[in-house]
Amino acid sequence: MTARIAPSILAADLGRLGEELAAIERGGAEWVHVDVMDGRFVPSLTFGAPLLRALTRLTRLPLDVHLMVAEPEHYIDEFAGAGAAGFTFHPEATIHVQRQLARVREKGMRAGLALNPASPVALLEDVVDDLDLVLVMSVNPGFGGQRYIEAATGKIRRVRALLDERGSRAALEVDGGITPETIRGAFDAGADTFVAGTAVFGEPDPAAAVRRLKLACATPV
Ligand code: DX5
Ligand code: ZN
Repeated sequence: MTARIAPSILAADLGRLGEELAAIERGGAEWVHVDVMDGRFVPSLTFGAPLLRALTRLTRLPLDVHLMVAEPEHYIDEFAGAGAAGFTFHPEATIHVQRQLARVREKGMRAGLALNPASPVALLEDVVDDLDLVLVMSVNPGFGGQRYIEAATGKIRRVRALLDERGSRAALEVDGGITPETIRGAFDAGADTFVAGTAVFGEPDPAAAVRRLKLACATPV
C-alpha cells in the first residue's frame, strides 16, 4: 500500500495558487485538502464555495474538503455543486450525523467524519456503513503548523481495527503535524491518507516535499 498525500492549501501561497497546485501534482499528490473554517467551530475563517470552484479550474486533483464548521449540513448541496469530491465534517458540529452522511453520498461526494483529539472512536461505531472516510485529527483543528499529538497514533490503530472488523473500505486519513518524521508512525498504525500543510507548502520545493513524505512510508525500517 502506498501513502496517499493530500496537501492542505491552508499553508499555500494563495497569490500563486496555480503554481503551488502544479508543484504538488508534479510531486505525485493524490488529493487537494481544503480546510473550511467558519469562525465558530474554530476561531479562524477561511474558504467557501467560490474557492472550490476556482480550484476545479486550476487542478484535476480531487478536492478533499474538511469542514470545521457548525451545522455543516447547510453546505452539502453548495459544495457538491462547486466541485467537492469529499465532504468531511465533525460529528459534534451537527445533530443528525447519519442523515448528513447519507445526504453527502446522495450528492455524489465521499462522506467523511473527523475526530478531534478528545473525540472518542465510539462516535464512529454506529455509522461505519455510512462512511467513506475517517479523518483522525492529530492536532486540535483551527491552525496549521502545530505539533503532531502522539496519542493520535493509538487512535489510528483503533480506527483501523474497527474498519477492518466491520469490513469497511473507508479511507483512514490523518491531519495535523504530518512531517517526514511523523508520517511513518501514522502509516504503520494503519492510516492510508495524509494531510500535510506546512510540510509541503512551507518547503522551498513542494513537489520534492510530497515525494519525501511518500518515501518515508515506502522505505523499509
Ligand atoms: C488544521 C487543519 C489542517 C492543517 C494542517 O485545522 O485541519 O488540515 O492545514 O496543517 P499542518 O500540516 O501544517 O499541521
Ligand atoms: Zn484539515
